[in-house]
Amino acid sequence: MEKQRELITGKAKTVYATDDPDKLIILFRNDTSAFDGEKLEQLDRKGMVNNRFNAFIMQKLEQAGIPTHFEKLLADDEVLVKNLDMIPVECVIRNIASGSIVRRLGVEDGIELNPPTFEFFLKNDALHDPMINDYHIYSFKWATEQEVADMKELTFKVNQVLTKLFADAGLLLVDYKLEFGRYKGKVVLGDEFSPDGCRLWDAKTREKLDKDRFRQGLGGVVEAYEEVASRLGVDLN
Ligand code: ATP
Ligand code: TYD
Repeated sequence: MEKQRELITGKAKTVYATDDPDKLIILFRNDTSAFDGEKLEQLDRKGMVNNRFNAFIMQKLEQAGIPTHFEKLLADDEVLVKNLDMIPVECVIRNIASGSIVRRLGVEDGIELNPPTFEFFLKNDALHDPMINDYHIYSFKWATEQEVADMKELTFKVNQVLTKLFADAGLLLVDYKLEFGRYKGKVVLGDEFSPDGCRLWDAKTREKLDKDRFRQGLGGVVEAYEEVASRLGVDLN
């Protein structure tokens, strides 16, 4: 598979065209950003860890019947994926209240949410990814009612699979963000699942093992990601 021109330079990944119009190559860089790109750093090994972590999770999700863009690992920091027509919204599920919901609703950090809650955000850094509802998505035609239903159903299905996977590794899946796109008429999971886009706490101590370490300047960011990978049995070599 031949890497061709650069199509998207995101904050953490670069997307390249290939000689097959249905396939793209995603390069996971070491760049790490928070607060809509205001805080930016290079963290050694992060691209490799997230690429391998994401490949492991995407394959678990495929095995559970969730359609994903993952095709195959090409290198430590590169993956071959399906070329999706991305839907410009972010789907968030929260099993425990933390982050923006605590600031927005004044609820206590760390309380269990049963049932888990679901939120949509618009992918727009300039507007700081505002929270939106289903009707905004229909009215502005960002996606159809069927696509919205599919994204919600798949995001909850991911929750079932991953809360168990992480629980078995002694971890709490606090919350996470997913992005979907269209591929040959179907809604398919795209982008990435890694500690950059979710919150993971040690089940006993509630130690943070995700990007909050970077956001809050706690240090040991990549070491925490590696700890999670090792508990799950992700091969980082
Ligand atoms: P963030 O997602 O963190 O808000 P970003 O958009 O800068 O920031 P990156 O992860 O650096 O994110 O960039 C990856 C880009 O590739 C995103 O625009 C994402 O929507 C897009 N993308 C991911 N998977 C696919 C895919 N399979 N097909 C097409 N585009 C994809
Ligand atoms: P949230 O608590 O809304 O935002 P913040 O990270 O600013 O406190 O985020 C919920 C989860 O979704 C969290 O694990 C981070 C992830 N997420 C992203 O990775 N990117 C995004 O653009 C959004 C809205 C959330």
